[in-house]
Amino acid sequence: MNPIASEIEQKFCELFQETPLIIRSPGRVNLIGEHTDYNEGFVLPAAIDKAIYFAITVRDDEICSLHASDLKESYEFHLKEIRKSELGWSNYLLGVVDQILKLGYTIKGFNCVFGGDIPIGAGLSSSAALEAGLAYGLNEINQLHINPMELVKLSQRAENEFVGVQCGIMDQMINIFGRENQVLQLDCRSLEYRYFPFESERIKIVLCDSQVQRELWSSEYNLRRSQCEKGVEILQKFYPEVISLRDVSLEQLMAHRDVFDTIVFNRCKYVIEENQRVLDGCQDLSEGNFEGFGQKMYQSHTGLMKEYEVSCEELDFLVDAASKQPGVIGARMMGAGFGGCTINLVWADQLERFEHAMTEEFIQRMNKDAKIYITEITTGAAIYKEKIMNL
Ligand code: GLA
Repeated sequence: MNPIASEIEQKFCELFQETPLIIRSPGRVNLIGEHTDYNEGFVLPAAIDKAIYFAITVRDDEICSLHASDLKESYEFHLKEIRKSELGWSNYLLGVVDQILKLGYTIKGFNCVFGGDIPIGAGLSSSAALEAGLAYGLNEINQLHINPMELVKLSQRAENEFVGVQCGIMDQMINIFGRENQVLQLDCRSLEYRYFPFESERIKIVLCDSQVQRELWSSEYNLRRSQCEKGVEILQKFYPEVISLRDVSLEQLMAHRDVFDTIVFNRCKYVIEENQRVLDGCQDLSEGNFEGFGQKMYQSHTGLMKEYEVSCEELDFLVDAASKQPGVIGARMMGAGFGGCTINLVWADQLERFEHAMTEEFIQRMNKDAKIYITEITTGAAIYKEKIMNL
């Protein structure tokens, strides 16, 4: 058994004296397609081998008792009294319960202990892992039969409405729909999706953690979203059929450059180009053209840095340093930005050398010990261990 899972199980037994159901809920990477999900565009994420484990059982009353094992903090609430709490982490979970109740389901109170190894604030989507993991667990222990896509949507709404981040659907989607050694191409408008095999033996996904705390990121994130909406509003005057930036070609945008302010123009240009990069990148992957894919990752980073302005000095440095190493296929900042990790695709036979070189760069140029994670692509949220009945 995974050591974290057994630790969580043990803590649960200690606190509640019963055997729980255990759910594994993974973090994610995104190969390409950043800030495109809430513009009804395309993304290419994968679930990874860093996860949160939930130990959970149903109760006979309406009390919900939560324990965050890593933080050693507890929070209790009544199903009829759901309101925002002072404890940051609890709001992701309260939001999920709130959404399930809003959908009209009846659930019982529950006991829950959780913890894991997804670094917080590193852009690996620990928040979606919290939301979708609990949604998955509550669905199981109450036998609600909510279908996977509904679990995704309610988890996203939990973040939008309860936590207050206007995030798109990518993170919750990959958390539930992830598959081992496959990346998922998602059309965030129709929610149609397709899996592409990933050559996990030959190519390694390496994350370099800038260790920059992503303060203020949620307000900047919501601001980017409203700037994109502003762009759509302007474009609709010329093209009434446009619903989101997904519907706009680069030519259409360029034709009306003069009516845009520079910031909104740049935001739109980046999103339109990034959507195309996801589609072209998937073509590259299916043809085995990794070099072509890697180039698109670098272009994505440049756009995020210069036009979307969600990068930072440390991320730019890490991408630049990686691009100079032999064996690197592509690199870019990943996730919402303002800190967190860069994602690097590295040929497996050059991995050690890459790790060594980047460790040196961290020390020499960033004056920090390196935090480098080599990740594997795993399945999405699932039951890790059944509750053993009648013990
Ligand atoms: C965060 C959000 C996602 C997505 C990315 C940026 O992870 O939760 O919905 O918008 O940022 O691509």
